[in-house]
Amino acid sequence: MGTSFAAPGLVLLLTTCMLAVSEADTIVVGGSEHWHYGFNYTYWSIQHGPFYINDKLVFKYNPPSKNNPRHSVYLLPNLWSFVTCDFSQAKLLANPKQGGGKGFMFELTNWRPHYFASAEEHGSQCENGHMKFFAVPLPRLGK
Ligand SMILES: *[C@@H]1O[C@H](CO)[C@@H](O)[C@H](O)[C@H]1NC(C)=O
Repeated sequence: MGTSFAAPGLVLLLTTCMLAVSEADTIVVGGSEHWHYGFNYTYWSIQHGPFYINDKLVFKYNPPSKNNPRHSVYLLPNLWSFVTCDFSQAKLLANPKQGGGKGFMFELTNWRPHYFASAEEHGSQCENGHMKFFAVPLPRLGK
């Protein structure tokens, strides 16, 4: 028993590893939706994950103006602050002006959860606007 089932499993495992060895990707957060209020980024991240170490996330949003609300990108320290949209210990990654042009690029260099959110409108963009998601980049095998 066992051995006859091992071969297909091994092939699958090797195939999975080979896929993971591909080059780092540059991923626009939200795709063509970019980074805005009311888009479900949790859903987006599930659809477009998993992410790998050295992948680059690009946050694109218009600079603030009469017609454009302010957005930002913060890194929250842990799951609880992410769930509650508590920015008291958050680290600013990109201010409202940094999403223009080619956008703000963040490289996923560490194998740990990264909690991203916009803090604007007193946290409402995080709480009500769904402008938050997390990514746990997987290691790229074979590098
Ligand atoms: C966003 O998507 C996630 C994953 O599908 C889902 O669990 C959540 O309820 C959605 N949020 C809203 C407000 O639709």
